[in-house]
Amino acid sequence: MLGRKIIQIECCDSTNNYVANLLSDGKIEYGTVILSDMQTKGKGQRGASWLSNPGENLLFSLYLDTANLSVKNQFVLTQYVSISVVHVLEKYGLSSCVKWPNDILINGKKIAGILIENQLQGSTIVGSIVGIGLNVNQVDFGELNATSLKLEKGNFVSIQDFVFSLINELKSFWKIVESRNFDLLEKYYLSYLWLLNEESIFSDHNGEFVGVIRGVEKNGKLKMERDSKIINYDLKEIKFKSSM
Ligand code: BTN
Repeated sequence: MLGRKIIQIECCDSTNNYVANLLSDGKIEYGTVILSDMQTKGKGQRGASWLSNPGENLLFSLYLDTANLSVKNQFVLTQYVSISVVHVLEKYGLSSCVKWPNDILINGKKIAGILIENQLQGSTIVGSIVGIGLNVNQVDFGELNATSLKLEKGNFVSIQDFVFSLINELKSFWKIVESRNFDLLEKYYLSYLWLLNEESIFSDHNGEFVGVIRGVEKNGKLKMERDSKIINYDLKEIKFKSSM
């Protein structure tokens, strides 16, 4: 059961790697959550690192039972986790949105990042390591365009309480994945998608352009309207510049 076992540690390289190591030793059950006070090699998307002041933020990895989801539906997991994070923030009185594919923003500043690493057997996802980094009590981010629960709410927030609320949201939205109601998940996801249907500036390998996000393909590619045509972009193919 999701969240039945929670392992709290002081330090590791990456909570996602910690899960992967337990998995290769056959020592982890589905639903287990790893929490660490700090990471020495926190991993972000696209090979980036994830930085977090020791003890101040949520560093969370869940070993998720993906109920034999097909690899062609893997974007469903991104939608599921993003929606769960948006909803837990809502429970904390904060309105957030999802910058495609799965950065969580509050007023244009990043509060959380998600790194999902799937375990495949052929074309089936047999399990997934769901990593979530969420800024809780850190208030100084240097040059980074980031925010935290403490900055948004003006008070200290218990990481432990937040974990329980997050697990509740993950449990509740998992029911939608389990029932294979992917259209409903997509509906939720699009309702939180940053810059949807807004003319904005992006860049690709040819330079900057003005476009409008029109949605997301089933395979997770971003659907972009550009010069009255729809072009699909993969994660590495596009950068967001700003809204207009
Ligand atoms: C991103 O936005 O680039 C994704 C960041 C994901 C960070 C979390 S922190 C917990 C888990 N362990 C990791 O090494 N990464 C994820």
